[in-house]
Amino acid sequence: MSTVYKIKEKKTLTEKKEVAKKFYIESYGCQMNFADSEVVASIVSKEGYNSTNDLNEADLILLNTCSIREKAELTVRKRLESFNKLKRKNKNLKVGVLGCMAERLKSKFLDEEKIVDLVVGPDAYKDIPNLLEEINEGRNAVNVILSKEETYGDISPVRLSSNGVTAFVSITRGCDNMCTFCVVPFTRGRERSRDPKSILNEIHDLNKANYKEITLLGQNVDSYLWYGGGLKKDFKNADEFVKKTSVNFSKLLKLVAESFPNLRIRFSTSNPQDMSLDVIKTMSLYNNICNYIHLPVQSGSDPILKSMNRQHTRDEYLSLIKNIKKLIPNCGISHDMITGFPNESDKDHEQTLSLMEKVKYDFGYMFKYSERPGTYAAKKFEDNVEESIKKIRLQQIIDLQRKHSHYRTKQYIGKVVEVLIEKESKKSTLHWAGRNEQNTMVVFPKESHKIGDFVKVKVLECTSATLIGISKGL
Ligand code: 5AD
Ligand code: SF4
Repeated sequence: MSTVYKIKEKKTLTEKKEVAKKFYIESYGCQMNFADSEVVASIVSKEGYNSTNDLNEADLILLNTCSIREKAELTVRKRLESFNKLKRKNKNLKVGVLGCMAERLKSKFLDEEKIVDLVVGPDAYKDIPNLLEEINEGRNAVNVILSKEETYGDISPVRLSSNGVTAFVSITRGCDNMCTFCVVPFTRGRERSRDPKSILNEIHDLNKANYKEITLLGQNVDSYLWYGGGLKKDFKNADEFVKKTSVNFSKLLKLVAESFPNLRIRFSTSNPQDMSLDVIKTMSLYNNICNYIHLPVQSGSDPILKSMNRQHTRDEYLSLIKNIKKLIPNCGISHDMITGFPNESDKDHEQTLSLMEKVKYDFGYMFKYSERPGTYAAKKFEDNVEESIKKIRLQQIIDLQRKHSHYRTKQYIGKVVEVLIEKESKKSTLHWAGRNEQNTMVVFPKESHKIGDFVKVKVLECTSATLIGISKGL
């Protein structure tokens, strides 16, 4: 009898080993969220879960969510609804919500979306092992505590659905700027920077693994400041030695560019009020820092910039662009723009169009204003631009941007650009796709090149978004 029992037990153990639990993770929103999912994947993997791309075989589904606009939240809610069927099929399936929506809604999420078992805010991912234990014992679990120190600098991210060529490396978390429309300071907390040593270590590992391009990430990278840890606001009280040995963003860029001369380096996102001349000079000095800046402006009108609490005027922004173009004439520049902010008049809108006309951005991301609960704008201003007007204005800026993008891409015709091959072209299996240093997509015949190669491509034609060329004989 006892022998039978032993054999049975042995079998159960082996079965347990063979069928390790599986997790599936899906990310929404900004690049930071995608980078965070790689940190979460690392933590969950250490708990014995294997990753899967097939929802049907998952024991744990994680959604890393975005709160930036109402639409982003609705998309997540719809996605959660679609998991009901899976949960009916697999009674042991657990569903977790991570990221900004988790932080914004906290335990309310559990009441609003019955399908959710787990709610984890952006600074609480290290608590996931404990939270998993809770949910696996049948209880719901929530941790949305924001931190003043957490940077996940000590966690090696698991590169999810990576092309093996490009990777994100986060350098700051949170944001202190308090733009009145933005939910980020509430969902991601105070700004803090990561130790440069751990940044260099992560890049070193990527370099060794043959990655060719890294993007230094943060809600506000130009505000990066390392002086031994701690909040940026406390730096002014630090002693002289600490101040002297501190590392700001331009120093960090230099460090990375010099340590990894064979890597392409990008960064995102830059806030105009925090971008220093030093950063632009550093970019101009190092060939491996890509000549591309994503420089959100949000509006071209001074009164609107003021009520958005942007810390710069239209003229200051334009003189920053002038400085960039002076030091880096071929720099690609993109923007974010919000249309229909409270009290935005036709005149304000015209100012936005005229700013775009002056800059002629390479490309841009344009949004209708979406009121976010808890923000200063939601509390103090009425969302008073009619939806139909927001729609018309948005279409106007999109059309103008398309014209400018085409103007920019046409400038490349006949020129040779360097492209890092990232993937097969979506439209043709015979072509590769990659970006030039200004971040414009380039497609060209595959020839004998492979993913991860840097290739010189002569541009022959273009659309407003893509350059089309050849590499042969160059
Ligand atoms: N409504 C619309 N767009 C917004 N963004 C941020 N908050 C809002 C909002 N409440 C846009 C900004 C920002 C980008 C990431 O999202 O343009 O730069
Ligand atoms: Fe969305 Fe902002 Fe959160 Fe990124 S930081 S996920 S853009 S709300």
